[in-house]
Amino acid sequence: MKNKKVVMIPGPTPVVRSIQDQMGREVAAFGDPEFVKDFKEVVDDLNELFNNRNGKNFVIAATGTFGMEMAISNTCKRGDNVLIVSNGFFGDRFIEICKRKGLNIDVISAPWGRAVSPAEVDEALGKKEYAAMTVTHVDTSTGVSAPIKEIGEVIKKYPNTMYIVDGVCSTAAEPEDMEGMNIDVLFTGSQKAFGVSPGLTMVWASKKALERRESLGDIPEYYADFEKWLPIMNDTSKYFATPAINLVWALKESVRIIKEEGLENRYQRHIKYGRAVQKAVSSLGFGILADEDVRATTLTNFLYFDDINDQEFRSAMLENGVVVAGALAGYAGKAFRLGHMGNADENDMIVAIAMIEKSLMKLGKLKTAPGHGVGVFLSEISK
Ligand SMILES: Cc1ncc(COP(=O)(O)O)c(C=O)c1O
Repeated sequence: MKNKKVVMIPGPTPVVRSIQDQMGREVAAFGDPEFVKDFKEVVDDLNELFNNRNGKNFVIAATGTFGMEMAISNTCKRGDNVLIVSNGFFGDRFIEICKRKGLNIDVISAPWGRAVSPAEVDEALGKKEYAAMTVTHVDTSTGVSAPIKEIGEVIKKYPNTMYIVDGVCSTAAEPEDMEGMNIDVLFTGSQKAFGVSPGLTMVWASKKALERRESLGDIPEYYADFEKWLPIMNDTSKYFATPAINLVWALKESVRIIKEEGLENRYQRHIKYGRAVQKAVSSLGFGILADEDVRATTLTNFLYFDDINDQEFRSAMLENGVVVAGALAGYAGKAFRLGHMGNADENDMIVAIAMIEKSLMKLGKLKTAPGHGVGVFLSEISK
């Protein structure tokens, strides 16, 4: 019997007890002085942590997809050109968002498992004037991490192009620095590397992005409008739309954990543990979709070997109490996705690797001695 499911999909990620406790608190009024203070602290801390002192952070009841819409809606107007840099399914999601908004798009895509290079971005940006460019930092469909720092150097030559970074599967796990990387809009969701349940999007807008929004005048969007939210983020006692009070408290606890660990240590932890999981699981025979030089530290797409059946494998994992995700689009059935980000700790990872071995055993596909993958993981993390 299993009385616990270890959720090792690439979001939602494991939520630790102290964060769960915040979600279980008795709700307060949004004007409650204690909540107003807590909300302000979260917004200010997030701005500071990601080096956006001259801009603004928005914490909104929504998901990552809304962060995508918010980024585009506040930086572009109908008829503008947008360059979409796509390394997979979530990069491509911007195509429909932009089309629906009447924007003219150009797309540069990498084959799945690779990333568009800064030189390709430079070449594309040189061809015409773009109001904005979108880059997905870690595309969750491929496990590829884009070189956002190097692209941030390229964008310096194109000051009229807003640099939009999708950090849904990376923020608080892979390095992001608003001013240091010349990012104009960054967004993420609460359910990934922040380790909070789904329901919040956090959006950072640089000073330049706020000025761009101002220059657009009235925009068609209402809930997504920076200008509707700015008064609230500047003074959290004000009302525009009801904040997700318990999730904000949960986020505050998540930010406290991040500050206690230190962002740099958190980035290093993700490298160490991400690489250890990749080594351990591939030692069992699985391939990895993302090329080594662009491999993310937050999740991995493991390619099946020896005709392993995806449904059978993931059902066996579930019976063993561990939830992993299927792959997307062309890789559906050919790979599974394992999240290893946020507050997922070494116990979670050891259980996941052990149960991958047990599931392979059930399917008659375990080629190594039982415990081999766990052993590889343990020796990697002890280095
Ligand atoms: C990179 C990336 N962008 C955007 C999204 C969309 O976020 P949400 O599902 O929270 O709307 C996801 C979701 O997994 C994602 O991984």
